[in-house]
Amino acid sequence: MLKLGVLVSGGGTNLQAILDAIETGKITNAEVGIVISNNPGAYALQRAEKHGIEAVCISPKQFENREDFHKALLSRLKESNVDLVVLAGFLVAIPPVIVEAYPNKIVNIHPSLIPAFCGVGFYGLHVHEGVLKRGAKVTGATVHFVDTGTDTGPIILQKAVEVQPGDTPEILQRRVMEQAEWDILPRAIDLIANGKVCVADGIATIKE
Ligand code: GAR
Repeated sequence: MLKLGVLVSGGGTNLQAILDAIETGKITNAEVGIVISNNPGAYALQRAEKHGIEAVCISPKQFENREDFHKALLSRLKESNVDLVVLAGFLVAIPPVIVEAYPNKIVNIHPSLIPAFCGVGFYGLHVHEGVLKRGAKVTGATVHFVDTGTDTGPIILQKAVEVQPGDTPEILQRRVMEQAEWDILPRAIDLIANGKVCVADGIATIKE
């Protein structure tokens, strides 16, 4: 049984998709061991508690410097014996010390088709603002392993979503979540939990 540590910052709809997929059997061989937020007000923490899952806040504000924050985050993941770290709307950069502790064992959901609209500054609504500003006609979401770059790790799953006339960043964000994120994040976790994802030379492949 793969133990997941889910890191969140906000509403937690992707966390909810994971919890629902575990309950309905869409994800097998995995359980959520702990949910950690950097933001004490994150609704995601309440979602975890409603499911009887340990939910904690580890905020950079509780520490004198970034290094101590990173150490606290890492030791909490280790204490909980987490096998796979899932960044489900975690809007904090993961430092090399954590990436190195979990090589190809951290996955992130990003709300665009990487390598478009990703990298430093592209998170949350900013991604969808960028898509609309560029006039892109198709966007989507990507689940990828996390390496020491920003949104540069091996791509596991992607799903395209159409941009429609009249979209606002908020409307587009919701469509990308509904049509892509809540589908591919649970699917990627299920594939990993069942040993179906391998990585070689920076490329992830799915064994069917
Ligand atoms: C999601 O759209 C996720 O893809 C995005 O933040 C949102 C969190 O929503 N993540 C990033 O932009 C990471 N670069 P949620 O809290 O409702 O799951």
